Amino acid sequence: MLLKRPFKITLKREDSVIEKRPSQKPLDVLLIEDDSTTASLIIPLLQSKFDVRIQHLSTIQSAIELLEGPWLPADLIICDYHGASQALLKCMLDFCQKVPCILIAEEGFKVSDLSRIRGAYLVDPVNRKFLSRELIERITGLEEKGEFRKGDGANDEPRLDAKSKALVEQQSQKIESALADPSPNEDQARATATESLQIIQDLTTKMGFAPEVRKIAAKSVELSLKVVGSKPRLSSIIANLKKYEGQYLASHAIMLAEISCATACRVGWNSATTYFKLTLAAYLHDIVVRNNDIAKCRSLEEAKQLVHVPEDDRFNYRLHPTRAAEFSRRFHEIPPDVDTIIAQHHEKPDGTGFPRGLFQSQLAPLSCVFIVAEELLHFYLREGAEGSMTKFAEEHSEEFKSGVFRKIMRALVDDPKSL
Ligand SMILES: [Fe+2]
Ligand SMILES: [Fe+2]
Repeated sequence: MLLKRPFKITLKREDSVIEKRPSQKPLDVLLIEDDSTTASLIIPLLQSKFDVRIQHLSTIQSAIELLEGPWLPADLIICDYHGASQALLKCMLDFCQKVPCILIAEEGFKVSDLSRIRGAYLVDPVNRKFLSRELIERITGLEEKGEFRKGDGANDEPRLDAKSKALVEQQSQKIESALADPSPNEDQARATATESLQIIQDLTTKMGFAPEVRKIAAKSVELSLKVVGSKPRLSSIIANLKKYEGQYLASHAIMLAEISCATACRVGWNSATTYFKLTLAAYLHDIVVRNNDIAKCRSLEEAKQLVHVPEDDRFNYRLHPTRAAEFSRRFHEIPPDVDTIIAQHHEKPDGTGFPRGLFQSQLAPLSCVFIVAEELLHFYLREGAEGSMTKFAEEHSEEFKSGVFRKIMRALVDDPKSL
């Protein structure tokens, strides 16, 4: 993560730094300000008064891109409300609940969502002297109240309670014994993996992605890979789909792992690393989604319509790929592109996906495999025995017509008997 050490901001007074301890980390400030005159007032002001590192962004697009990126980019965000589009404000609402934000707006300006932004304050930019004084007061006040992050190193790791620890330990032993079996029963191994994933999902949404949870996730991935084997065949996975349709979140992930590996194998990408990446991505891609109904959604519009689902879950749906990608980075020594697959799993080649609306040329090849595999899984669950690869290809002929998608589709439809 971005911050490794705790910090305490220090106020400078008359060019001398008070109580500055050398080991402390400066405050990272993200300044979103399109007006260069205001920026040239704020930047030197903050630098002269505080121990800060300032990143200045002058366009809404660059701010949105940064905020939608993998890490919370700052300890404090200062944003000019003027010219900030609804998209940027929404983005800030999504991302800045953990990071205090100071919005700069004219006096008396009403910001309806202001209360949802942690540490939000209005400052009047018309009077420069007043602006300077207000900013200093607000930042000092936030620091005094302990609003800034205290680093996110090992001390911030989520902790499991005793009951959850025991559950994880028990599951871990179960996976170990399945792994130790030289020829495990596939159905049983899938059931154990699904069960593990259910536990991982529950504990993660309740308590965070604790180290013990990561450990059983890694072991379950190993178990899934054992079932997948070196040459997974789509036909046998598809034939078994209905059998494993249980709790959506967990069973979906296990099936998706197998389908994406089998799809990659068809394209000729059949290395153990590729399978590992796809399987871990499948395990984690929806890990932050708490609700089975919303996890089934394929688009933001669909999610919005689920009025029976708590508003928070609907609200957070757009961001689940980004947040899940963050979780994947908590694994040590994993291949780097697992996070990319997860972050891109709801993107579409024509740019209509989310959260970033990327286009086909911006998607990683394994993300393309994963996206096609998700479609395949939904297609066969819907069609059952009626489904055929030709029908699937027809349905997606427009969507997957070029680039890596075309290559994948060709691999799938060529010689369908050998699936
Ligand atoms: Fe998803
Ligand atoms: Fe999914």
